[in-house]
Amino acid sequence: MSYTHSVGERGHRRAVVGGAAGVVALVLLAAGCGAIPGSVTSVDDVSFDQELAIPPLAESEVIDGVRTFSLTAQEGTTSFAPAVEPGTETETWGFDGAYLGPTLRAERGERVAVDVANDLDEATSVHWHGMHLPPEMDGGPHQEVEPGGTWHPTWEIDQPGATLWYHPHPHGATEEHVYRGLAGMFILDDDATRAADLPAEYGVDDVPVIVQDKVFDDAGQLELTDDGAEPGTLGGVVMANGTVGAFHEVTTERVRLRLLNGSTARTYAFGLPDRSFDLVATDGGLLEAPLELDHVRLAPGERAEIVVTMEPGETTRVASAEADLGNVAAPFAMGGNDAFDVLELRAADELEPSPEPGWGPSRHAEADALEVSDATVTRTLELDERRINGELMDMSRIDEVATVGDTEIWEVRSTVPMPHSFHVHDVQFRVVSIDGEGPPPELAGPKDTVYLEPRSTYRLLMRFEDYTDDAVPYMYHCHMLRHEDEGMMGQFLVVEPGSEATPGPLRGAAVGHAAH
Ligand code: C2O
Ligand code: CU
Ligand code: CU
Repeated sequence: MSYTHSVGERGHRRAVVGGAAGVVALVLLAAGCGAIPGSVTSVDDVSFDQELAIPPLAESEVIDGVRTFSLTAQEGTTSFAPAVEPGTETETWGFDGAYLGPTLRAERGERVAVDVANDLDEATSVHWHGMHLPPEMDGGPHQEVEPGGTWHPTWEIDQPGATLWYHPHPHGATEEHVYRGLAGMFILDDDATRAADLPAEYGVDDVPVIVQDKVFDDAGQLELTDDGAEPGTLGGVVMANGTVGAFHEVTTERVRLRLLNGSTARTYAFGLPDRSFDLVATDGGLLEAPLELDHVRLAPGERAEIVVTMEPGETTRVASAEADLGNVAAPFAMGGNDAFDVLELRAADELEPSPEPGWGPSRHAEADALEVSDATVTRTLELDERRINGELMDMSRIDEVATVGDTEIWEVRSTVPMPHSFHVHDVQFRVVSIDGEGPPPELAGPKDTVYLEPRSTYRLLMRFEDYTDDAVPYMYHCHMLRHEDEGMMGQFLVVEPGSEATPGPLRGAAVGHAAH
């Protein structure tokens, strides 16, 4: 059994058949001739005999009406056998444990607080990815927590039920912090998602699946290859919730998987080789109706809730097939020819009945609706290798200023044949068009992160509802974390009408400290 980079033949054959040899040579040059990432195939190469770890639900206490959680970033060691020799302890980071963190869960309308503590030797932060909240609670690079320090964000949950997540966002070091293991889910509940006919027993038929890829060195330690390869480190070991070769015992006719791409660089195409599934929700919550699909592509940061139907006694696998990355140069070098098995599902001999997925029109749908005709502002964001509109991230520079209450269209385009995953803080947006065409149905629901096929124009519709601040910005960035760390990020303010805040140097420079 081999988990290290086994270069599959398929990748090379396809690259040559595709006539991409010249581009391949360029990419190899650009990559400094380091190890070629990609072309990894672990399908049928892994025995799936480790029970899937289920992140525990975080405990909370309601103090003066505020649901209060605590999270401590800490060091630890984790066993990733069989990816490494049994008995090897790999140094990892986690929240309240050695690797990953507990699942936070809260209800729409609730006020929450999190007592964050940093037991690491370096500054980190905790960002609530997908959450609508005030910028000073956002956990971005302006809210870093020093070693030994604490941070106490609090906000009201004011958005539909959804699968969100949390992870560090320290300036220039996000890739490493997430890669070492700092990430967890944040599930939001509301009446509409509860009323939907979806499996909902956490860890039983409603299962978090955080998918990440890793490279291990000879000593079994996590390696973050830094050979200039694009789009970052692509690992040959793919794990779910930190479990390599994971299986989950299914006891119901249907199982809901909350898929989170928590990888730093890799884009997946999740599906099951022998059946279709229902996509029921994307980043920000339920689709209009369940959507039957064979695959769902997820770039770093994206989520998808899928419902899989099983027969008694059978076994199937959630896999990632070769992801169609669009018009990228040398897709094999970007992971586009890699395929992995991720999670085996083993159905019991008798299955409890599950409802057929479905729901009526969400009763929040009206209030949450975004209309293109309401858009009064259009912004253009062009992404090249690392810059957005020609600029690298500068924590003391404001790039965009939005006025509260406005509905806006952001026209986002990657101008280079390289994968990018575009994410905006504070809002859930709608993809209204891609190169002028309506989005595919799997991109028609609420989103906060979207894979950018190169040289296509994505029109994203969003509204800035509240939480104005003239000094503390939100971020937008590529969620391929090396790109983000290397500066592929911008800052925007949401301000009151008539505010004097403008793009340019951040006045009052509430810029935190420089992390490096
Ligand atoms: Cu998931 Cu700005 O991040
Ligand atoms: Cu985010
Ligand atoms: Cu990018």
